[in-house]
Amino acid sequence: MIILGIETSCDETSIGILKDGKEILTNKISSQIDIHKEFGGVVPEIASRHHIKNIVAVLEEALEEAKITLDDVDYIAVTYAPGLIGALLVGISFAKGLAYGRKIPIIPVHHIKAHIYGNFIESEITFPTIALIVSGGHTNIVLVTEKHEFINIGGTLDDAVGETYDKVARVLGIGYPGGPVIDKMYYQGDSSYLKIPEPKVGEFDFSFSGIKTSVINFVNQKKMKNESFKNEDIAASFQKKVVEILVKKSIKAAQEKNIKNIVLAGGVAANSLLRSELVSAGNKNGITITYPKFEYCTDNGAMIAMAGYHKLMTRGKECFAPLELNGVASLSMEYDI
Ligand code: KG4
Ligand code: ZN
Repeated sequence: MIILGIETSCDETSIGILKDGKEILTNKISSQIDIHKEFGGVVPEIASRHHIKNIVAVLEEALEEAKITLDDVDYIAVTYAPGLIGALLVGISFAKGLAYGRKIPIIPVHHIKAHIYGNFIESEITFPTIALIVSGGHTNIVLVTEKHEFINIGGTLDDAVGETYDKVARVLGIGYPGGPVIDKMYYQGDSSYLKIPEPKVGEFDFSFSGIKTSVINFVNQKKMKNESFKNEDIAASFQKKVVEILVKKSIKAAQEKNIKNIVLAGGVAANSLLRSELVSAGNKNGITITYPKFEYCTDNGAMIAMAGYHKLMTRGKECFAPLELNGVASLSMEYDI
């Protein structure tokens, strides 16, 4: 069984091909990071235009590497939401065209849930599990049940954690995306340099806007007074606090729900300190921690194909996008989580 996974929700045009729910034959990613870098963040209109420009070539390369043709594709999984509307529309319209032309069913995939399924690519995950979803747009603690239902336990009340990394990086002038740079700087700085306030929110909720503001204000004041500071010390203090909060809350959620495993998902799951601190907290508390390989942390088509596979396995044909208008698939972009 061959599933083609299409991802265009933000700044990566990606197509992954999954065989028999187990083997990733290819995971082609055309990243636009270098294009958006000069703007300090993703510019939606530019992202959509680049998806249009790249998607056919990405498909051709993916088919070539997987050594298959479109005739071998049984299902098309495509991100339907959440994401930038124009960017999503490129992937969805492309999927619809392929599906209509080739009579292949479409499995609509929720981008955030797909980040969780990215864990299945290299590991065996058992449900129920607690999932800590940390990306540029989301920060949630979710309980995934045996029936693959997603129950939101808590989430951010303002900024997402990845977005906060990117904004802190912007004020420090260290480039976009901020996560990987701050992650590296952490090891060169003094994490006790800056006291960052603990947000006062519900047990499983997050708030990052106060943290962001305290870092930005500190940096701006230093600049105004012409006082010197090291970017590494700010990066280290910021990362230490953020990771401490993420780890504490997800372990607490697992304990409260009596669940023995936590999976990490989303772009920020690539963070080295988050991975190591969560593993050591897991070891202390008898909780198994799983996270995806780096390639499957940030946006990619392989995780979309894997999520499509599990949707098909749990829901059968019911999960196909309904057909309307002479056989063209119809996809609603409303979403939950
Ligand atoms: O999941 P993703 O690729 O896109 C969204 O769906 O949002 O996540 C992108 C986010 C960016 O904010 C980026 O700064 C962050 O993931 N990120 C990291 C790291 N690598 C990427 N954050 C912290 N540490 C990292 N190593
Ligand atoms: Zn993502």
